[in-house]
Amino acid sequence: MFGKFITLEGIDGAGKSTHLGWLQDWLRERAIEHVITREPGGTPLGEKLRELLLHHDMHLETETLLMFAGRREHIAEVILPALQAGSWVVSDRFTDATFAYQGGGRGLGIERIEVLEHWVQSGLQPDLTLLFDVPLEVSRERLAKTRVLDRFEQEQQDFHQRVRNCYLERARRDPARIKVIDSTRPIEIIQQELATLLQELI
Ligand code: TMP
Repeated sequence: MFGKFITLEGIDGAGKSTHLGWLQDWLRERAIEHVITREPGGTPLGEKLRELLLHHDMHLETETLLMFAGRREHIAEVILPALQAGSWVVSDRFTDATFAYQGGGRGLGIERIEVLEHWVQSGLQPDLTLLFDVPLEVSRERLAKTRVLDRFEQEQQDFHQRVRNCYLERARRDPARIKVIDSTRPIEIIQQELATLLQELI
């Protein structure tokens, strides 16, 4: 029995963290075994890599390789064992983020990311990806309230616009897996939509 693999995505300030807690409650209420995790991070090594990735300047190729190095560890140590034990896994970001940030945002060739994806994931893909989407102005407003911005959050508007466009394009190409959630709506309406999507997974 394989558990379900759900990922949360979106530009910085799209509000995905707000919905993560709700999602956890939803799973708890239904007594569904689950693991909540994140990328970069999710393992002791991955969390060390996260610190470097968010705060240390590096070449784009290094950044991409470290994202995938952490991901390999995450899949082997956390994601696959949990799914194989029948547990659901909810990851705050996964490979769509590499396509959007390193590919769309920073301009790394998509085909290079695809090679790494193939190598590291051996076909593993999320069953459902919730893409929280807001216009740039909304995300900027939310980020303005954050005191310490990381390397990605410090990027200019046009970077985040490219990241958003890339996410939306990926959702357009794979609508069965990637669901765009308009995050500008009232929270209860968003939660109703999330509940419907999750129910379909059961
Ligand atoms: P978070 O703030 O949502 O935890 O994510 C940390 C940052 O890492 C976020 O700005 C997006 C970035 N990121 C990438 O650039 N590539 C990736 O593959 C992942 C997983 C995250």
